[in-house]
Amino acid sequence: GAPPLQIPPTLIGIGCLWAILEEAHIIMLAIHPQFQGQGLGQALLLALLKSACDRQLERATLEVRDSNLAAVSLYKKFGFKEAGRRKRYYEDTGEDALVMWRSGLEKPEFQRYLADEKREICDRLHQKNWHLAIDIFDF
Ligand SMILES: CC(C)(COP(=O)(O)OP(=O)(O)OC[C@H]1O[C@@H](n2cnc3c(N)ncnc32)[C@H](O)[C@@H]1OP(=O)(O)O)[C@@H](O)C(=O)NCCC(=O)NCCS
Repeated sequence: GAPPLQIPPTLIGIGCLWAILEEAHIIMLAIHPQFQGQGLGQALLLALLKSACDRQLERATLEVRDSNLAAVSLYKKFGFKEAGRRKRYYEDTGEDALVMWRSGLEKPEFQRYLADEKREICDRLHQKNWHLAIDIFDF
């Protein structure tokens, strides 16, 4: 008979930014644990940066637990630099938050950077057999 259908989660990723003056505050970025490691997180981050760029924001910033290796490496891959720490920011574990910044979003070369990254990210998604029903990058 047919194999049992596995019901997929309805939400596999979420990303959100707040535009505050000329800054993009990335307040949320997460991929469902079953779907991590396939390039979806970087696709979402790229979409957020593209949206920041379209809104003429100049810098992106976020806070992340310093123990969160996956997230910290993802942000570094996209040019975020550690700019400071908030000591014992997370009440549950007493961990520090790293404050990271990515500047230069308003520069023309950032457009080229986004386009290059988009190509690579889309190739990787295709290799993993993902086909986006909508163009989340819209460029
Ligand atoms: C951080 C997170 C969004 C990454 O999403 P993902 O879809 O698994 O990541 P991707 O497959 O797109 O990986 C992109 C890059 O992230 C980094 N990365 C992802 N997983 C990693 C891991 N387990 N270890 C080290 N680096 C990792 C790498 O730089 C990777 O690039 P590479 O594959 O070229 O090396 C995901 O791990 C997550 O949802 N974590 C829990 C929520 C969270 O911590 N959010 C961030 C809060 S600020």
